Amino acid sequence: MFPEKMLERAREVASFIAESDDVLIVTHIDADGITAGSIAKITLERLGKNCDILFVKQLGESEIDRIADESRFTWFTDLGSGQLDLIAKNLLHFAITDHHVPVSDDRRQLNPHIFGFDGSYELSGATTTYLVSKMLGRSLFAKNVDLAALAIVGAVGDLQDSREGKLIGLNREILEDGIGSGTLEVKKDLRLFGKQTRPVVKMLEYTFDPFLPGISGNEKGSIEFLESLGIRIDEWSRWIDLSEEDRKNVTSALIKLCMNSKMPYKIIKRLVGESYILLNEEEGSELRDAMEFSTLLNATARYGYHEIGLQVCLGDREDALRKARSLLQNHRRNLSEGLKLVDELGITELEHIQYFDAGDMILDTIVGIVAGMCFSKANLNKPIVALAKNEEGIKVSARATQKLVDRGVHLAKAIKEVAERIGGKGGGHSIAAGALIPESEVESFLRELDKQIGFQLR
Ligand code: C5P
Ligand code: C5P
Ligand code: ZN
Repeated sequence: MFPEKMLERAREVASFIAESDDVLIVTHIDADGITAGSIAKITLERLGKNCDILFVKQLGESEIDRIADESRFTWFTDLGSGQLDLIAKNLLHFAITDHHVPVSDDRRQLNPHIFGFDGSYELSGATTTYLVSKMLGRSLFAKNVDLAALAIVGAVGDLQDSREGKLIGLNREILEDGIGSGTLEVKKDLRLFGKQTRPVVKMLEYTFDPFLPGISGNEKGSIEFLESLGIRIDEWSRWIDLSEEDRKNVTSALIKLCMNSKMPYKIIKRLVGESYILLNEEEGSELRDAMEFSTLLNATARYGYHEIGLQVCLGDREDALRKARSLLQNHRRNLSEGLKLVDELGITELEHIQYFDAGDMILDTIVGIVAGMCFSKANLNKPIVALAKNEEGIKVSARATQKLVDRGVHLAKAIKEVAERIGGKGGGHSIAAGALIPESEVESFLRELDKQIGFQLR
């Protein structure tokens, strides 16, 4: 349940937004950011307000300067809390709906951390934004509860359902809104990518997280696995085309396979859980399944095509969706090539962290996703740090496991502190964080981060 204090803050933030007729929305270039920004845009348009969206890779001094120059009321979604001080210094009128670790508090900010909830699992940028959207909703639009489906796509895009194989905490209340408004359905099912759209053989073959021994990256292995279960399907049958019984058989056989390969129980457990179905989308479309929808969005904005992702969220099922689908193929290829590259490069272990340096071989905007996927093969007892070159310096992406977080690891705190010491900037969440650092400081950054994580684990 949302505590009254938090609802009060949501109302207050909504009232600041309501006062302005012209709003600049600033949001992040990932699935959670696109859905958060779309929810804000639809909400404002329903109120007859004028608005534009600006997508940013990160929010630094130069971006804030640029935004301040526009002198417009600015609604930051899925970012802003890590730069609140800077924003308050430079902007007169703004609102923030974000879930990143906040540097301070302000009446113009809604962030779950301030009210004692973990922003890495309990509420995402999109679900936080949705809460304010609901406050701004008119009864004509049923208080915007139809937007809960987009919000859930955002939360799933940030992997907020990954800890327990389902959404938890405050996110579940948003989920209830979606179910209540008839736009969402929850299904207990295998949690692999491509259930709606891929032939089963390919769905299994292309699963690398977790790595399915004998199946991942192995078409023949995937076919033989299905044949060994007596499942007779043609090469085009998708998961949603299988009978209930066949689906159950495949699921238990996969679990058995993973257990036999000594995969950690926690990872195996996550193979099965909740899937979120968007009932207004066509069956067999990426948009039908929150996990596939969010990956489709990541495939747009992380490559600079945020306008396409945005149009899909705003309802375009023609041109934008077609383009997004082709970007998705490119994205999947890049992820699989990224994983191959890490295999070739190898992961270097320091005392408390492990890292790989992708140079300019993996795009800085997806290197974090690759780092997270490496956990199905890398050491689970050390956070994984990935480095990639971009036009401004070195992009750092770090991922931990829940076990490490439970033992005291807080990546955002460690990375922010170490990055700032060497002239960089960083932030994020306890389990996933990132930074931008000067190229000349990479070695000292890794050394200091290793020490800092060591302190956290003491
Ligand atoms: O910037 P933002 O908050 O949207 O990004 C959150 C990031 O944290 C996502 O890239 C998501 O994949 C990552 N994450 C993760 N493991 C979790 C939770 C989040 O890698 N358990
Ligand atoms: O880019 P990546 O997916 O690794 O980002 C992980 C988390 O760290 C995200 O929540 C992102 O917003 C945050 N981050 C940040 N500052 C950066 C880079 C990433 O706060 N310079
Ligand atoms: Zn987010």
